[in-house]
Amino acid sequence: MNVSLLAPDRVELNDREEFRDAVLAGLSHSPRAIPAKFLYDARGSELFDAICELPEYYLTRTETGILKDCAPELARLAGPGCALVEFGSGSSVKTRLLLDAMPDLVAYVPIDISRHHLDATAARLRRDYPRLRVEPVCADYMALEALPIDLKGADVNGAPRLGFFPGSTIGNLEPQDATSFLRRARTLLGDRGAMVLGVDLRKDPKRLNDAYNDSAGVTAAFTLNLLRRMNRELGATFDTARFAHDAFYDPVEGRIEIYFRSLAAQSVTVSGRTFTFAEGERVHTEYSYKYDDAGIAALARSAGFTIDRTWTDPDRLFAVVYLEAAAP
Ligand code: AVI
Repeated sequence: MNVSLLAPDRVELNDREEFRDAVLAGLSHSPRAIPAKFLYDARGSELFDAICELPEYYLTRTETGILKDCAPELARLAGPGCALVEFGSGSSVKTRLLLDAMPDLVAYVPIDISRHHLDATAARLRRDYPRLRVEPVCADYMALEALPIDLKGADVNGAPRLGFFPGSTIGNLEPQDATSFLRRARTLLGDRGAMVLGVDLRKDPKRLNDAYNDSAGVTAAFTLNLLRRMNRELGATFDTARFAHDAFYDPVEGRIEIYFRSLAAQSVTVSGRTFTFAEGERVHTEYSYKYDDAGIAALARSAGFTIDRTWTDPDRLFAVVYLEAAAP
């Protein structure tokens, strides 16, 4: 169902139930895990914005620098008169670099699950780009196969579509899910479609470990905010002083793994159910996969894209990749 069709209070109720069901299932499962999307309540989103500013967290800065440099060439590759479709647009900060380089877009279509984010972003962009047609779509981009029918105005319908998925968000998906997401994006963008993808690259493990264990403790606060959210929304009894953020790079899997770890043997109640934790027991919250060139090529191929161009920073920390729909 398109989430935009639900009244706001229904959305909130559904969200709360979905969160409770996911937490109870995740804590009952072995090994324990809670899906990463629940890290992003209002406070979690604020903390993530703060992570993006941290000296150790090179990803945002580096990608923004690459996008600044490559935007004109990217605009040339996409050609005039396309529609820009952003998957999980959030506050669309990086999008502005593309909008500035592509003044003849027929439309900008931000897709986001948060109605609040979408409305605020659309209002700001309409103010700052008065000639741009902004067509927000409130939906879970992970599950969307087609754009809603009412977007199919003559000009937008006929335009080639350029997808935008920055921020290394692809890295938070397990490889199979990354492929299914990109396949769905390939269908949604069509045979004349292309995609701009931001990907964090494999590198010195120390650099990666530092990026997810910052000295100011913001990433730890981001992880432990999930416990606070469970306390607030599910009447849980987590004592955040008795759990710790645990993040490390696994070079074999090529991914950062993030958990919250119990510092003592203890019991916690969530939504009326009791869960016991051994000292040192972990609950998984995130993966952040890092790619090399071969991995990016394999991912693109498996989803029906070919790589047209790759831009990186001089230290090869991060890559922005321009994918074109492969012939069907
Ligand atoms: C959103 N995503 C790309 C971040 C990452 O780097 O995987 C999430 C994050 N979690 C802790 N720090 C950053």
